[in-house]
Amino acid sequence: MRQPLVAGNWKMNGSTDSITALVDGIKAGIDAVTTAEMVVCPPYVYIPQVAAMLQGSAVSYGAQDVSDQESGAFTGEVAPGMLADIGCKYAIVGHSERRSLYGENDAFTARKFAAARKAGLVPVLCVGELLEEREEGITEQVVARQLDAVISLEGIAALGAAVIAYEPVWAIGTGKTASPEQAQEVHAFIRGKLAGFDRAVADKVRILYGGSMNAGNAAQLLSMPDIDGGLIGGASLKPADFLAIGVAANA
Ligand code: PGA
Repeated sequence: MRQPLVAGNWKMNGSTDSITALVDGIKAGIDAVTTAEMVVCPPYVYIPQVAAMLQGSAVSYGAQDVSDQESGAFTGEVAPGMLADIGCKYAIVGHSERRSLYGENDAFTARKFAAARKAGLVPVLCVGELLEEREEGITEQVVARQLDAVISLEGIAALGAAVIAYEPVWAIGTGKTASPEQAQEVHAFIRGKLAGFDRAVADKVRILYGGSMNAGNAAQLLSMPDIDGGLIGGASLKPADFLAIGVAANA
């Protein structure tokens, strides 16, 4: 059985005060979440604050991105070892905003994945198609290409120790969620593709859905057989909504 995982990607939002309120709110209601692993990914500078606040709680934390380099003259970058050092468990790699706004391609994303893993972090590899690509009917090709970049660099076994997030780009931050059937179709494709390399890895890897998942649509999405959780943007900034998604994974 794959334990559901619900991860909040706070993106570039928050302040010391708002993050204090957000984490307090999550802690206050976390007992209602009985099954899912809950994770928050704050902006880098707030991770230590969140780490201190989450001490002794069941909520884990991670980063929204990570450098592909270990250390040295890489101005502005944050090394995976630094994130591991301050207790991060996860690092998101290849989020569509990194890919589209900052030009990060498949090969670069694969190197970040490798660097994160080497430092002992669990990479959360984001994949997903643009609206044009869905309309062209090439969703599976795009997702396969994004996965292959990592598989060819790191090998299939590495995926078994990672998390995959399928995030159709047209659903991110748009309020336009993929239907449970649309999402399930791609999740099943991803698991089937991995099974072509290694059945045990495919059975084990958690595949999250991301893209306007919220308290209202989470239960239906999470009821699909290959959807193992969610990567939540907007709704993760409100404790009640984030917790409701966690509760939706209880059954
Ligand atoms: P959203 O973002 O939930 O606001 O659509 C999801 C994501 O970007 O991971």
